[in-house]
Amino acid sequence: LANGLGLTPPMGWNSWNHFYCNIDEKTIKKAADALIATGLSKLGYTYVNIDDCWAELTRDEKGNSVPRKSTFPSGIKALADYVHSKGLKLGIYSDAGYFTCSKTMPGSLGHEEQDAKTFASWGIDYLKYDNCYNDGSKPTVRYPVMTRALMKCGPPIYFSLCEWGDLHPALRGAPVGNSWRTTNDIADTRESMVSRADLNEFYADYARPGGWNDPDMLEVGNGGMTEDEYMVHFSIWAISKAPLLLGCDLRNVTKDTLDIIANKEVIAVNQDPQGVQAHKVRSEGDLEIWTGPLSGYRVALLLVNRGPLRRAITANWDDLAIPPNTYVEARDLWEHKTLTTPFVGNLTATVNSHGCKMYILKPIS
Ligand code: DGJ
Repeated sequence: LANGLGLTPPMGWNSWNHFYCNIDEKTIKKAADALIATGLSKLGYTYVNIDDCWAELTRDEKGNSVPRKSTFPSGIKALADYVHSKGLKLGIYSDAGYFTCSKTMPGSLGHEEQDAKTFASWGIDYLKYDNCYNDGSKPTVRYPVMTRALMKCGPPIYFSLCEWGDLHPALRGAPVGNSWRTTNDIADTRESMVSRADLNEFYADYARPGGWNDPDMLEVGNGGMTEDEYMVHFSIWAISKAPLLLGCDLRNVTKDTLDIIANKEVIAVNQDPQGVQAHKVRSEGDLEIWTGPLSGYRVALLLVNRGPLRRAITANWDDLAIPPNTYVEARDLWEHKTLTTPFVGNLTATVNSHGCKMYILKPIS
């Protein structure tokens, strides 16, 4: 969507993957505080996104959506002011149907302009728009109504499209939103994570600055995967130019989790200005090679081992679109080391079971 937003994938936090419907204004404020206290905001994690369950089930007498009194007594405007005072941005959630997916609050269908105005008046910066309890019409009809409503509201609002069922928003989302879900909901397991990574890869050619494929939010730190598996999760999301929306409880974030989500070098791959999503260019059994171009003739390379044993993986220059006989310097993004010997023709590394190695390859002139 040409609203000037999402020129690199959005980064921040969202309440759903850890808290689901158990949210209130304190939870959201504490997440904002934690983004600052951990230093994550300085690395680019600036969106604080409220997901489902923030509103009363019934609209007021004027048809306005109202924050749930028991959990958001100060209102969303006050929360936006708080989040903005920290230099962060506030995101909210609605639905192109009569109710949101939790069925605890109204959707925006038929109230698009009114809700967009309300969100804008609160100072909202990001809207995630779900597809539950709709009227059976196509999302390609219902979603652009909200796009146009947002366009009338002054300062642009990042527009995140949730699932469109069989309609593949990647094929039709670019004029409608800044990112679109390519999969149904992620769960905090390796199987769920890798299957979403694969589905999302299928649509790689549709991603571009201003419009990204979204394989759903991060589970890193929620406890269901090993550290190696979470490194794979974060690396694939980064190289795939996916939104980096943290989904863990930031108040209790461990050092292991921070080592992953605060890896500046991996984040830089995600935020590279060229904005080209990586492809899985080779997979042989359990061993995979993911790669994509970066600015400055550099190449991002991710070696993934899905198998039960530690194994060597070799990436050939042909696979990586590097000209033959080109010498490259390899930077290991998880070890934070530049390898001393240059590589030519191929690069081989040993990769842990369920683990990965990630590099930036830079041609030596
Ligand atoms: C479905 C979405 O895919 C989830 O990310 C979350 O927003 C829930 N709906 C909320 O009900």
